[in-house]
Amino acid sequence: MKFFVDTANIDDIKELNEYGFLDGVTTNPSLIAKSGRDFKEVIAEICALVPGPVSAEVAAMTFEGMVSEGEYLARIADNVVIKLPMTLDGLKTCRHLVRKGIKTNVTLCFSANQALLAAKAGATYVSPFIGRLDDTNIDGMDLIRDMREIYDNYAFQTEILAASIRSANHVKEAAIAGADVATIPPAVIKGLANHVLTDKGLEQFAKDWAATGQSIL
Ligand code: G3P
Repeated sequence: MKFFVDTANIDDIKELNEYGFLDGVTTNPSLIAKSGRDFKEVIAEICALVPGPVSAEVAAMTFEGMVSEGEYLARIADNVVIKLPMTLDGLKTCRHLVRKGIKTNVTLCFSANQALLAAKAGATYVSPFIGRLDDTNIDGMDLIRDMREIYDNYAFQTEILAASIRSANHVKEAAIAGADVATIPPAVIKGLANHVLTDKGLEQFAKDWAATGQSIL
């Protein structure tokens, strides 16, 4: 499963990039607002930092507006992916941009039928929001499982990009359910490596090694 980081914070991206397991980045208008940065500038900076796909979301709601914004954003860097809302105009724009060779990410997906439409529109990625479904007492992971079954039934090439990830368990469950990608908040990514027994074991190894009085170098 590919790991994208879900942020527009350059420092977080730089830190995680050092560990070598970042396959891409996703942003959205809320994350751009949180960064306090100029949208086009921060997208360009992220694209230069991370060679993988970098999602940049349009703000327009009409087909004409989304096409103009999407084509403009796609010119920022070769690894820009245009994020489009799961609406009829968003799907029409998706089909238009895909025909022009521009990669797309249909976002705010909350149902299997929406995911089916995104795949039929040729979306490169579709972003089901797990956490926000959980917030409404609907199991967001059921959507990932349904999408995996539908996409495999018809050999759709659209990649399932599990989003609205809130915990390490979401990452594990999304991987078990067969998501192609998980876009994960920086803190959750860093937390994936943590385990109390690892810490305890390492502490004991250090004590026992110190007791040997030896050094490796
Ligand atoms: O990628 C979508 C993500 O940023 C939304 O997360 O926690 O606001 O549902 P959240």
